[in-house]
Amino acid sequence: MYLKQLSIINFKNYAEFEGQFSKKINCFVGNNGMGKTNLLDAIHYLSFCKSFFNSIDSQNIKHNEGFFVLQGNFEKSGEHTEVYCGLKRNQKKIFKKNKKEYERLSEHIGQFPLVMISPSDADLINGSSDIRRRFLDGIISQYDKVYLDKLISYTHVLKQRNALLKQFYESRTFDSETIEIWDDQLINYGRSILEIRLQFLKHFIPLFNSYYQFISESKEEVALHYENSLGEKDFKTAIITSLARDRAVHYTTVGPHKDDLEFTLDGFSLKKFASQGQQKSYLLALKLAQFEFIKEQKNTKPLLLLDDVYDKLDEERFTKLLEMVSSDSFGQVFITDTHPERIEHLLNKKQIENKIFIVGQGSAKLIET
Ligand SMILES: Nc1ncnc2c1ncn2[C@@H]1O[C@H](COP(=O)(O)OP(=O)(O)OP(=O)(O)O)[C@@H](O)[C@H]1O
Ligand SMILES: [Mg+2]
Repeated sequence: MYLKQLSIINFKNYAEFEGQFSKKINCFVGNNGMGKTNLLDAIHYLSFCKSFFNSIDSQNIKHNEGFFVLQGNFEKSGEHTEVYCGLKRNQKKIFKKNKKEYERLSEHIGQFPLVMISPSDADLINGSSDIRRRFLDGIISQYDKVYLDKLISYTHVLKQRNALLKQFYESRTFDSETIEIWDDQLINYGRSILEIRLQFLKHFIPLFNSYYQFISESKEEVALHYENSLGEKDFKTAIITSLARDRAVHYTTVGPHKDDLEFTLDGFSLKKFASQGQQKSYLLALKLAQFEFIKEQKNTKPLLLLDDVYDKLDEERFTKLLEMVSSDSFGQVFITDTHPERIEHLLNKKQIENKIFIVGQGSAKLIET
């Protein structure tokens, strides 16, 4: 599957754009603020029906304009599909496949899978644990709908239990029978969630490790651990043991909603001790392992969008990455860079099929090579 053609009207800093892409590597090169990432975002829209960056749709309309239109032509096993996204200010977003409008956007998501690797991935390291849980849950729920259902139910029960704890606290009452009803459900869903997460990590961790070793040429050892808020305890015992504390703080302090992923490099905290390039390599390996999972589950190679990956990576690591994504295990790739010469040089040296677009203030032109 690949994006053959993209046309844009009034999206972010583009009044108009039209481009035909290579099946393999496509580069958007240009100075800061010219619109390289905006092109990636337009592609992201066609896959996820939304911006990667700005969740307020209307803010993606070019300033002082009344609408935007994005159109993509995808080719999948010889078949062409036209995807249309249009938004007028103060109106509902329209999404169409082959001119037929979707009733629900969720019908579209997943048909043209895509993985975006961007500087904001650093939040996985620097942000709070819910960002890491969302990463984990996001991958699993893409291929396991039962998991998603359990997660939704768990969240619902958790909300009820927390509301009850709060109510007890405010009214200075307590009723163990009522809370036990919620506990039983929480334990039931929670156990399954934990089990599925651990099962998933059993497959994911070796993949992640092999990507890291490849990019870094085995210069350092990385690890990824699941931090279980239950400790060694069973969920039921943990819930009973933590009840006094839960009542005092009036929310549930143990369970999968409190678990975390611990990232380490050579045994030390990645956030505290690793260099920026090592952190970047770690994030790349995480996202590439995610790519691999989606690929297996969808039986198609997702589009891979690499925004500013050059930043912080040395040439050796970047070359490894470029070689890897050019191989047959990967499909179409879009890369942004501020230096046209270096990427062009690398691609030509490795004889990788590519198209390079020079991006300048809301316009992008193909360089003929
Ligand atoms: N709704 C909008 N209307 C007009 N311009 C916009 C809109 N949203 C963003 N922009 C402009 O897009 C430009 C940023 O584009 P983009 O993020 O794609 O740059 P870039 O080429 O990736 O730069 P860098 O190398 O710094 O990452 C900014 O000048 C910003 O003002
Ligand atoms: Mg950018």
